[in-house]
Amino acid sequence: MENLRVPSHGGIIMDGNGRWATQRGKDRSKGHAEGSKNVEKIATHAFKLGVKTLTLYAFSSENWSRPQTEVNELMRLLKVYLKKFAKKFATKKARLVVSGDRKGLSSELVEVIEQCEKMSEDCVEYTLNIALNYGGRQEIVRAVNTLIEKGEEITVDGISSNLYTAPFGEPDLIIRTGGEYRLSNFLLFQGAYSELYFTDVLWPDFSESQFDLAIENYSRRQRRFGGV
Ligand code: IPE
Ligand code: IPE
Ligand code: MG
Repeated sequence: MENLRVPSHGGIIMDGNGRWATQRGKDRSKGHAEGSKNVEKIATHAFKLGVKTLTLYAFSSENWSRPQTEVNELMRLLKVYLKKFAKKFATKKARLVVSGDRKGLSSELVEVIEQCEKMSEDCVEYTLNIALNYGGRQEIVRAVNTLIEKGEEITVDGISSNLYTAPFGEPDLIIRTGGEYRLSNFLLFQGAYSELYFTDVLWPDFSESQFDLAIENYSRRQRRFGGV
C-alpha cells in the first residue's frame, strides 16, 4: 500500500445486506445487523489510510418503500450504531455528521442524531458522514430552495455550497458493493467527477483488503475533469 494516492473524501453505497442474509437462509434484517457491524471496521481502516471524510449511504429517501418490519429494524439499528460510532470515533478525532431529511425520521432518532453530532463536534481530524433518509435529487432541490429563500442567484457554486457535503467537499471516489452498477440517488451533484468503483462483494463481506483493492484501483485512475 505504499505510494498510493488516497481519496480525501470517499463515499460508499453499502449494498447487499439483504442478499447476504437470503443466501444464508436468514431474514434480511440479519443482513442489516451484520452490515452495521462492518461500518466501524471499514471506517477505522479508511481513516488510518488517510481518508479524511467517509460518506456512507445508510438509508435512501426511497428505502421507505420496503416492508415496515425491515424499515423498523433499520431504524432501530441506526439508533444503536450512531451512538456507538459517535463515542468510538470521537476518541479517534473523528466527527460524526448525518446528512439527509430529518423531517421523515422519528423524534427519538433525531434526538440521537443531534446528541451524536454535538458529542463529536470538536473532533476535526476526520469526518464520518452518514447519509440517512438521503436522496441526491432531494438534496439538489433543497439547495436551490435555500438559494431562492436567500434571494441568491442559482449557480453551480451556489448549489454546491448549500449541499450537506459543503463543509467537506466532493467525493473523490464512490464505492458500491453488492454488484449493482448504479448510483441509486447517491451524491448526484457532488459526484459529477467522482471516480466510481463497483464490486460484487456484498457489504457484510466487504473487508479491509477489499477496501485496499478499491484504493489501489483508484490510485491508477487519471482524473481529467474535462481537460486533457
Ligand atoms: C443495503 O442492503 C442496505 C440498505 C439499503 C438499507 P440491501 O438491503 O439493499 O441489500 P440487497 O440489495 O437487498 O441485497
Ligand atoms: C442504495 O441501495 C441505498 C443504500 C445502500 C442505503 P438500494 O438497495 O436501496 O438501491 P436499489 O434499490 O438497488 O437501486
Ligand atoms: Mg440493495
